[in-house]
Amino acid sequence: MYYETAEKLLEFLKNSPSSFQAVDVMKRRFLTEGFTELKEQERWKLEKGGRYFVTRNRSALIAFSIPEQENRKFHITASHSDSPSLKIKENPEMKVGDAYIKLNVEKYGGMLMAPWFDRPLSVAGHIVVKENGQIQEKLVNLDRDLLMIPSLAIHMNREINEGYQYNPQKDLLPLFGCAEEEGVFWEMIAKEAGVRKEEILGHDLFLYNRVPGTIWGAGKEFLSAGRLDDLQCAFASMEGFLSGKRKNCIAVHCMLDNEEVGSSTKQGAASTFLRDTLLRINCGLGRDYEAYLMTLAGSFMISADNAHAVHPNYGEKADPVNRPVLNGGIVIKYNANQKYCTDAVSGAFFKELCSRAEVPYQTYVNRSDIPGGSTLGNISNTQVAVNTVDIGLPQLAMHSPYETAGVKDTWYLCRALEEFYA
Ligand code: CO
Repeated sequence: MYYETAEKLLEFLKNSPSSFQAVDVMKRRFLTEGFTELKEQERWKLEKGGRYFVTRNRSALIAFSIPEQENRKFHITASHSDSPSLKIKENPEMKVGDAYIKLNVEKYGGMLMAPWFDRPLSVAGHIVVKENGQIQEKLVNLDRDLLMIPSLAIHMNREINEGYQYNPQKDLLPLFGCAEEEGVFWEMIAKEAGVRKEEILGHDLFLYNRVPGTIWGAGKEFLSAGRLDDLQCAFASMEGFLSGKRKNCIAVHCMLDNEEVGSSTKQGAASTFLRDTLLRINCGLGRDYEAYLMTLAGSFMISADNAHAVHPNYGEKADPVNRPVLNGGIVIKYNANQKYCTDAVSGAFFKELCSRAEVPYQTYVNRSDIPGGSTLGNISNTQVAVNTVDIGLPQLAMHSPYETAGVKDTWYLCRALEEFYA
């Protein structure tokens, strides 16, 4: 069962090179499962026993189901669809003498830069076009090895292995083609989208790593791929949500965007997207605002974003006692300054949930002299204040374009969330 889940995760990652494709894959899955798509700009007619989903910006998605019986609690899981990447700038083609065309890109999120070099890359995201007089959005994925950021040979910088400070404007521009290929980039994008290049008015396009995900290790215990943070949790959230019975709660699965750049966009955790959706569920059930507040008071949220496992070469970077390992189970994250919202109550609730699901859990706390990262739980709580636990799956190389996790842990989270939505 671990392997089946791990293979499905790799398939999901392969089809989700950017947050736009991740939402599209999920959307198609929910439609197949009999969910109804709602539009934010229309009135919602909700029914008891109904199953729905809504997207915002085509890069964030919330699915929910309403039980047959009167119910006063939301069970929410929140993850994120985006990962650190290089974003295509306006007018990206840059000619290098008469030799090459390279692309002008900028950093999206806090990335490890070195692993972007010397591997095949491509471009995915969405574009906005004017087609037959109408403004439309189109998904784009140039599904082939297209770009490379070549390293400088060691002969030209003998000190490189002593440490190097990357300049993103100089070092990270990918090679696209020979000089004759000038003007081809937008033609390629247009062809892929089935439009003319003059019709393209806007774009959110990102580079992605083409190296396929793989299961490896002496006992095939590890899994590596791009975008594990946080699509591994998003995938487990979707699977747990779909396999859960969802009879005793208003079940909410949400995947928000832009966590890697602070969440403060209209489709991020700091936005009103989740709050608006919960309020509209409340309205749709014919309840007043006080009933909404009563429902929130009885609700629970699992903020699921990947966590750091102890590194085989840098064990000293982990807390001396709380040291999550790959395949050791779901990681519950704690932080005294509440960058993670886990507290005594929500932590206890989650431990009990893992026990019922018969899956292992482990605990993570930053070393007291290392500030660590942030996530979406506490940001979301400023809009929707509910009891929340911050958890994640243990991984290595976070924010590399090729990250490593344990082959068993995805299944553990699927199981725990199935129990959460039961
Ligand atoms: Co993350």
